[in-house]
Amino acid sequence: MTLLLHLADFNERRWADGFAAALPGMRVVTRADEYEPDEIDYIFIWKPLPDAFAGLNRLKAILSLGAGVDALLRNPSRPAGIPIVRFMDEDLTQRMSDYIVANVSMHQRLATRFKRDQAARRWSQLYPAPAWDTTVGIMGLGKLGLDAIARLKALGYRLRGWSRSDKAIDGVEVFVGPATFADFLSGTDVLVNLLPLTAETQGILNYETFSRLRRGGVDGWGPVIVNAGRGGHQKEADIVRALGDGTLKAASLDVFEVEPLPQTSPLWDMDNVFITPHIAAASSERTGVAYFSKVIRDFEAGLPLPNVIDQQRGY
Ligand code: NDP
Ligand code: OXD
Repeated sequence: MTLLLHLADFNERRWADGFAAALPGMRVVTRADEYEPDEIDYIFIWKPLPDAFAGLNRLKAILSLGAGVDALLRNPSRPAGIPIVRFMDEDLTQRMSDYIVANVSMHQRLATRFKRDQAARRWSQLYPAPAWDTTVGIMGLGKLGLDAIARLKALGYRLRGWSRSDKAIDGVEVFVGPATFADFLSGTDVLVNLLPLTAETQGILNYETFSRLRRGGVDGWGPVIVNAGRGGHQKEADIVRALGDGTLKAASLDVFEVEPLPQTSPLWDMDNVFITPHIAAASSERTGVAYFSKVIRDFEAGLPLPNVIDQQRGY
């Protein structure tokens, strides 16, 4: 039995050593090793190259280091019908919620306004609205959206959420499907994106969306957006336009249409944009090796694969 690692931005060798230690009896290879494509049973993958799956004729499962699988589903060499197991764990979820809580609080506490005052050496008192007077709207009520909601709720924020199917979440106003999107936006001060990237959600963070958000909230500090989903969700030209004309007051962006964000992007120079380089939540080597080793062991013992994505739905 052989496991192949195909990872960009992560240390393939170190992850491979971790898997080799956790899976005695399994051959673990990286792309730098000698192996025959048709000996590979499992591939553990992040940011696949176009030919990542070429010749992998006896693959049993595709194991995604990422929680998001959009790049895998777009890959031209991916064999149809092979199940894709995505990464989900408490460590990644906690990190994402840390990012969301930090950025929501930062905007609610008027970070842009006080950053500008500091740059101008201006002492100008203005008391931020309390959390309970701020509505956070979360797009995507899956593993990450629900955890972010639980943590924001504990801090007192008013919450609403938007997803494809209905859910009952205590203390949260839930909106379902495209027909309710405008209503959902109209009461939102901070729009948080935790959707998967699919044909339906591509480009959803656009000028029209921004213009529907609630404005004139306390002290006129909103609306703002926080995008930790995928760069394909956002139209960056629309974000620049909306930030320039006041349709948006600020933005926290962890993901970009092109990564790394090109040097020529006007976003770099905007003092109401908070850029991070796709680091909101990484998969940890320790918990990732434990999670996927168990997936393989259990599957080889006849148990079903967990967290298999629906390839038709796209997430
Ligand atoms: P889940 O699959 O658990 O949840 C997805 C949610 O989005 C579900 O509530 C789903 O609705 C909803 N949804 C999907 N399509 C639509 C649609 N067309 N309209 C409305 N709602 C929709 O995903 P996770 O919470 O685990 O992760 C979300 C995304 O976060 C990942 O796909 C990935 O892109 C991104 N991510 C980013 C990271 C980073 O570092 N920046 C790290 C990890 C993940 P329903 O409940 O009805 O199915
Ligand atoms: C993921 C990511 O999908 O890091 O896990 O973006």
